Amino acid sequence: MLPSIYNPEAPFTLGILGGGQLAKMTLQAVYRMGMQVAIIENGESSPAGVMTKKEFGGGWNDAASLEAFIAASDIVTLENEFVDPAILDVIAEKRLVFPTPDTMRLVQDKYTQKVTFSKAGIPTPQFAAIETKQDLFDFGEKYGYPFVAKTRKYGYDGYGNATIKRDTEIDMVWRKFMEGENPRPLMAESFVTFNKELAVMVARNKRGEVAVYPCVQTIQEGHICVTVLAPAPIEEPLLKRAQEIAVACVEEINGVGVFGIEMFLTPQDEIFFNEIAPRPHNSGHYTIEACYTSQFENHLRAVTNMPLGSPELRVGGAAMINLLGERTGSGIPDSVVEMLKVSDVALHLYGKKDSRLGRKMGHLTATADTMDEAFRKANTALERFVW
Ligand SMILES: Nc1ncnc2c1ncn2[C@@H]1O[C@H](COP(=O)(O)OP(=O)(O)OP(=O)(O)O)[C@@H](O)[C@H]1O
Ligand SMILES: [Mg+2]
Repeated sequence: MLPSIYNPEAPFTLGILGGGQLAKMTLQAVYRMGMQVAIIENGESSPAGVMTKKEFGGGWNDAASLEAFIAASDIVTLENEFVDPAILDVIAEKRLVFPTPDTMRLVQDKYTQKVTFSKAGIPTPQFAAIETKQDLFDFGEKYGYPFVAKTRKYGYDGYGNATIKRDTEIDMVWRKFMEGENPRPLMAESFVTFNKELAVMVARNKRGEVAVYPCVQTIQEGHICVTVLAPAPIEEPLLKRAQEIAVACVEEINGVGVFGIEMFLTPQDEIFFNEIAPRPHNSGHYTIEACYTSQFENHLRAVTNMPLGSPELRVGGAAMINLLGERTGSGIPDSVVEMLKVSDVALHLYGKKDSRLGRKMGHLTATADTMDEAFRKANTALERFVW
């Protein structure tokens, strides 16, 4: 049984592991619906932590902080997939946790993800687990160069990835990931020459109801997502195919919550699974302004087993551009005055104290009758934004 969401005695509280921008935007959806949020994070005053009195700054590795956080929460979810499953098990003894620890075990490791999905018939690049340096040579021999070595866990914004163009680069990559104090187990996968990168958000509740968002195009620079275009400028059957793959992935892992599925579209119109994120995702930020129900609200609805809201676009198109840090220093922009004069553009600043080069500090979403028009507006706004 799920706890009653609207209990006349006390407000329902959603506990979130992590206090970054994803937790902050989830919190905003939760409060709008008359509920509350508890945040646990390493340190106080995180973007979401400052927005609730139920802030636990000791982090989840601190037993007292974790216990108090559990006591304050009715259902627990996460904004970051790198929580040790053993911690999720501890929480799950006392509270419902979504996505479940079992789902999280399947998706925390990129190799396990690919084994799970390729067994289910979902197309993935060629891949293999890498145990020894020789395995890297063998992979290159078998599938050709270039290929991509990835840390199986804890990779984000491309930090765990290395493209190996020829066998002479293997030594360097092996040293980088495997010969430090904390060796990071690797997998290898063939390099996909893609035309576009696609992403689809899927929300699923415990009853198995599914809401599938439009397929979007994501554009990464230096492995970091910079732009999201909704809908993706590709043909209708491909949009549908990407949505089908995304739903199949979430059903395969019995996912409850919202999930972001990243894919590659090749020049031959094949779509390959890249990775799944078990949480709200950067490629779904546009849903706040552009869809009837945002990814954050549907995440709340999914983990509380409420009916899901419509994921459809309520505008012709949308474009989201990340505001990446351009300096080391204050995270507060110098001026947004000219930017705010651009109509139909929403500014999101996450409230991070410190800016670093390339750090995700906020984003802009533009909506319009067409995606192209939205993209133009978003770029105009970006040009006027001053760090
Ligand atoms: N097999 C591949 N072939 C070609 N390009 C790839 C491949 N794998 C990853 N990339 C490129 O690197 C980017 C980041 O890779 P991936 O999604 O695995 O890393 P991550 O660090 O987990 O990502 P995120 O930025 O989503 O946190 C991809 O979006 C894509 O541009
Ligand atoms: Mg990725």
